[in-house]
Amino acid sequence: MSEDMLAEGLDKQLLPRFKFKHRITITPVTEGDADMAFGAEGNRVFQRIGGDVIRLDIRTESAEARTFLDWLKSGPGKAAIESFKPDGTQVYTTEQAAVVVERTETFEGDKVDGARLALVHCGRCHVVDKRNRMGGIGSTPSFAALRGRENWSDLFRAFWAHNPHPSFTQVEGVTEPFDPNKALHIAPVEITMDEIEAITAFVATIKPKELGRPVQAN
Ligand code: HEC
Repeated sequence: MSEDMLAEGLDKQLLPRFKFKHRITITPVTEGDADMAFGAEGNRVFQRIGGDVIRLDIRTESAEARTFLDWLKSGPGKAAIESFKPDGTQVYTTEQAAVVVERTETFEGDKVDGARLALVHCGRCHVVDKRNRMGGIGSTPSFAALRGRENWSDLFRAFWAHNPHPSFTQVEGVTEPFDPNKALHIAPVEITMDEIEAITAFVATIKPKELGRPVQAN
């Protein structure tokens, strides 16, 4: 990965999501031997908006590198690239000029179970639905508001990688154990990938809250 990509935090956007899906840990390096490299050679994967096409060059027989390439080209991989907005603006696109890509998403999780899990694990901070309408913590966004975000499904599948959740969330087989030297100030959320998929399938059924006109920045 280039120093620019690391400075932007692209590794933190892509690698945890990839690990979540495939249980493969990739360690980014900026120089030296690597199984694969982003650059001008190899398979086209994405493009800096208004800038260079970025390719992934696989340099060894590594099956993990192949899996990463396939993931980058899959729906969830593309969503991770497109929803990367370090300063609020999208940096990379996966669409090629003049090609209209239609993306329909399917949710395979158990939405009934997801409704229950959401209330148990998320309902003490987030208003999930009418079951805890008066619950939640002040400024924490409601699930209906989050459902209204364009990239909501990516946000839900990767909520554990975004603050404030990492300090109290463990995803089985994905996140590192909590630091035993640090006291937890919040009851932990311990959850599995299947449970997150179930919550995401449940959230798909929530009616998005109208967020009104986007705030104009100038
Ligand atoms: C201890 C409180 C707490 C719990 C428990 C909690 N969240 Fe959150 N969550 C927050 C807060 C606070 C924010 C807003 C963070 C911000 O806007 O900076 C948030 C934001 C989010 C976001 C938006 C993230 C983003 O990048 O904008 C998602 C999605 C989310 N939470 C999902 C969940 C899910 C799913 C669960 C349950 C499995 C959960 N949260 C449990 C406190 C919590």
